[in-house]
Amino acid sequence: MQQEVGVVEVEMGVKASITVFGPASLSNMGPGYDALGLCVGGWGDEIEAWRTDEPGISIEYAEGPVAWDPPHEPDEDTAGVAAATVLAQTGAGGGLRLRLRKGIPLGSGVGGSAASAVAGAWAANLALGQPFTKVELVEAVLAGEAVASGSRHGDNVLPALFGGLVLVSATEPSRYRRIPLPRPLPIALVVPEVSILTKEARAILPQQVPLRDAVHNAAELAFLVDAFRCGDWETVGQRMMADRLVEPVRARLVPCYDAVRQAALDAGAFGCALTGSGPALYALAPGAADAARISEAMVEASRAVGIPATGLVTEADDEGARATGGND
Ligand code: HSE
Repeated sequence: MQQEVGVVEVEMGVKASITVFGPASLSNMGPGYDALGLCVGGWGDEIEAWRTDEPGISIEYAEGPVAWDPPHEPDEDTAGVAAATVLAQTGAGGGLRLRLRKGIPLGSGVGGSAASAVAGAWAANLALGQPFTKVELVEAVLAGEAVASGSRHGDNVLPALFGGLVLVSATEPSRYRRIPLPRPLPIALVVPEVSILTKEARAILPQQVPLRDAVHNAAELAFLVDAFRCGDWETVGQRMMADRLVEPVRARLVPCYDAVRQAALDAGAFGCALTGSGPALYALAPGAADAARISEAMVEASRAVGIPATGLVTEADDEGARATGGND
């Protein structure tokens, strides 16, 4: 069954379709609020796109793994806004029809809005004959993210677009750098059943912080990025738990935070932190088998304090948004 919202059905002039996957991403990574994010594999949103003769963007929502309440207009949808920005950037006539299958719950902390935005932008680009490189789609994905979170932060959309680890300016997100990871990075993830809206989790943060804490975070972020570059996951794990500015405030929104973090560390994780505005937490594992054990321990700890949770074992994904198919 398909749920259709704000759809303009255009059968005449519908061209071959392209299907694109937009992956999940971890953001902030501890002391890197709005500045550091990592694309992860195995989870994401999917968009099929067609070029149409009818101008503008139309979106329909296919049933997917996640039940959600979709926006009512394309200009309220992260994928719709990202695709519309790409279309406007080409100056081409006609329009695009998108079909979104939501795989990542919104409000989970693993980049659900970003996955849709990058899938929308890349699908639009491919359906239009690939006039742009990924680098030229940065503005489009930032515009898509801003619809959902009220801010143009790039620490989810840029890793989801490019893949891998991305360091991005928190104040000028069109300035960014990909940080190569020298070896696989096994990750245990847990998503407790608590919904946190990014807009609200941003609004509760203090506008002013002690200079000593700001300086501490700046230094910890530098150590963290250096450790990522070196493949020193043990140091990454320690430094990603060093945030003094944001995570301590947001942890109060996640009733199982302390229990899950302790369970991950007891199970052998190098470190454990909130991703984005939560409630998901991720832990770095010494190896893939450890990641499965750590994920189970985190899920169990959340359940033990009365919060149902889902676990996932994943790893850094180096590819980012990609085509997965097409139809004539
Ligand atoms: N950096 C963002 C935040 C990520 O923490 O608010 C959530 O989209």
